[in-house]
Amino acid sequence: MVKICCIGAGYVGGPTMAVIALKCPSIEVAVVDISVPRINAWNSDQLPIYEPGLDAVVKQCRGKNLFFSTNVEKHVREADIVFVSVNTPTKTQGLGAGKAADLTYWESAARMIADVSKSDKIVVEKSTVPVKTAEAIEKILTHNSKGIKFQILSNPEFLAEGTAIQDLFNPDRVLIGGRETPEGNKAVQALKDVYAHWVPEDRILTTNLWSAELSKLAANAFLAQRISSVNAMSALCEATGADVTQVSYAVGKDTRIGPKFLNASVGFGGSCFQKDILNLVYICECNGLPEVAEYWKQVIKINDYQKNRFVNRVVSSMFNTVSNKKIAILGFAFKKDTGDTRETPAIDVCKGLLGDKARLSIFDPQVTVDQIQRDLTMKKFDWDHPLHLQPMSPTTVKQVTCVWDAYEATKDAHGICILTEWDEFKNLDFKRIYDNMQKPAFVFDGRNIVNVDQLREIGFIVYSIGKPLDAWLKDMPAVA
Ligand code: NAI
Repeated sequence: MVKICCIGAGYVGGPTMAVIALKCPSIEVAVVDISVPRINAWNSDQLPIYEPGLDAVVKQCRGKNLFFSTNVEKHVREADIVFVSVNTPTKTQGLGAGKAADLTYWESAARMIADVSKSDKIVVEKSTVPVKTAEAIEKILTHNSKGIKFQILSNPEFLAEGTAIQDLFNPDRVLIGGRETPEGNKAVQALKDVYAHWVPEDRILTTNLWSAELSKLAANAFLAQRISSVNAMSALCEATGADVTQVSYAVGKDTRIGPKFLNASVGFGGSCFQKDILNLVYICECNGLPEVAEYWKQVIKINDYQKNRFVNRVVSSMFNTVSNKKIAILGFAFKKDTGDTRETPAIDVCKGLLGDKARLSIFDPQVTVDQIQRDLTMKKFDWDHPLHLQPMSPTTVKQVTCVWDAYEATKDAHGICILTEWDEFKNLDFKRIYDNMQKPAFVFDGRNIVNVDQLREIGFIVYSIGKPLDAWLKDMPAVA
């Protein structure tokens, strides 16, 4: 029986390994982590992450051929294939701070693998890493190996949170990079054999190591670039009276462009896009390519611009002050169908409004009060460096309440900001909400999910990103 061990039981390690266990009953899969609460949660009825379909997959395999454990060394020692799916955050200090990937967690995992191994192993990079990381890992492993042979493969993960199980069941492609040597090819084939249990062969792509590593960074950069492109257009639409939904529909009908990832919004979030682009920028700079670095940096600048623009729009529409006004925040997760708040635009928008002394009442169906308060008091990048967490600021906590119902959040509010596109927000009783709000009542839709005409009919002043402006908003000072 082939044994797989995955180091890192996070958003990637947990779901990917659960699906491998489900699709390959003949393979034993152990997912290990140094975090005891995380492993305890994986072994309980309340999994540590919310992901549609995940509970069912885990329930089917856990205890049969899928195990979650903190006994990292034992499971690594016994495995034939070791996936490494630890976090690779942006460095906060030292060389490359604010851009380069922090490979501390990766390096310590690699040293541990070398330490405890007693048999040859295939080590798979599942985390997103800078190009040439495999070479560094190879050096760590071979210099500490006591004669044991390691083959390094790059197998980046392309799943999207919120649709992870679907994406894993039916991936557009699985990418495996390896050394172009007989041993390298053999290792690639062994990993291909795992995926071949359910992925059609023509969707399993093999490349050299560096292409696989770079393809993941490139894919995320391209996806984020589409969002920044349509968001840049949304600002122009507001200035000209065009409607961004109509523009992106027309643009996306071109088969060379395609319709996906063209929704204007308050900005992209999540743990990957910004971190991976910053990493790409750093790699370009290190390779003497400042123009290329500058090009990709712009994707992040537009994203920051979009979040600022949104905050400015809220404040300027409400007579240039939100001081002591109650603003309801509907949605805090970085997208629907996940409880993940890493780099969510809601953090920047809420901080912007708190900066103008607003009182916030926040509702998200999947994000806990503790998480929201932690996010609003953390410094940038702290979220992925648990050791550096700052204590909560009492002032911020006082200005923020978290509630478990959209109607409660909006009661007596002056304005509503929709920051996550949860389906349940589309079907709210907006007449009831309007009746219970202060007047004039504002809706700022950062995800373009409400029916603008219907809400205006009820009496709301509505701002929806990239849509023709309400007469009210046109009269307000210009937003930069
Ligand atoms: P995560 O933070 O949810 O999980 C990482 C886990 O690794 C944590 O539970 C941590 O305790 C554990 N860990 C760290 N060092 C360890 C060690 N030495 N031994 C054992 N466990 C250790 O991170 P997530 O979101 O799963 O991401 C992992 C990697 O996958 C990152 O490189 C990310 O860029 C990449 N990725 C993430 C995607 C996502 O949607 N979240 C999608 C595709 C790739």
